[in-house]
Amino acid sequence: MRATLEAAVTDAERRSPGSVAVLDAGCGRKSALIPFRARIDRFVGADLHAPDLRLPHLDEFATVDLCRPCDAFSEAAFDLILSSFTIEHFADPPAALANMRRWLRPNGTLVVTTVNRRNPFVAAYLGLPDGPRRRLQPLLKASAADAHPLVGVCNDPATIRGALATAGFERIDLETVPNLARAWGRRLPSFVLGVVGDLLVQGDPGRRSTILAVARKPAASPPR
Ligand SMILES: C[S@@+](CC[C@H](N)C(=O)[O-])C[C@H]1O[C@@H](n2cnc3c(N)ncnc32)[C@H](O)[C@@H]1O
Repeated sequence: MRATLEAAVTDAERRSPGSVAVLDAGCGRKSALIPFRARIDRFVGADLHAPDLRLPHLDEFATVDLCRPCDAFSEAAFDLILSSFTIEHFADPPAALANMRRWLRPNGTLVVTTVNRRNPFVAAYLGLPDGPRRRLQPLLKASAADAHPLVGVCNDPATIRGALATAGFERIDLETVPNLARAWGRRLPSFVLGVVGDLLVQGDPGRRSTILAVARKPAASPPR
């Protein structure tokens, strides 16, 4: 992830020297882009829920439902959009991807991370009935505040790749990485479960727990 963001920020600096604009879409309270803060001229966060406190790493915050038609930002406003562990929560991933594509500059980069349903532990978790899963979620998450309703309609590599292509992205690079131990690391039992879940599929990349996708908006793209 770090190397992916390093490459995306470097590309943004090259394309927009002195005016690098970045959106963290579904930003929560922390961002994988914080280490790059000094290289970002405009750092915007957007989320369904406004944070209780001002987030010091952001220049701006907007309360936005990414899954609905939205004009919170102008077209082509950002060089780079990160949407990290959000798609599994989206009721309408194609609508969210369409918004993000519109808000990106031509040649801009979208970086997406989300859970992979092809991992048996992730599949079991997403497959639980709503009630038990809602009770389990705060125990597994890095913090209870990170427990958001899960939908998981766009959560395997092929579906994500297809959704990105349909939304009009190109040069889509997609990989899977083991991340359960980290994601479930809040308590020792769930951490151990996560380590087992990661190790079980280590030799089967298509089943690793987390999908990391990078996609670009075409240089010349008709409005959608
Ligand atoms: C698991 S948290 C991830 C937060 C942060 N991106 C991170 O990596 O730590 C998922 C975030 O997506 C936000 N979210 C879920 N559905 C959303 C939507 N339709 N529009 C905007 N934000 C949404 C949630 O409010 C939450 O902050």
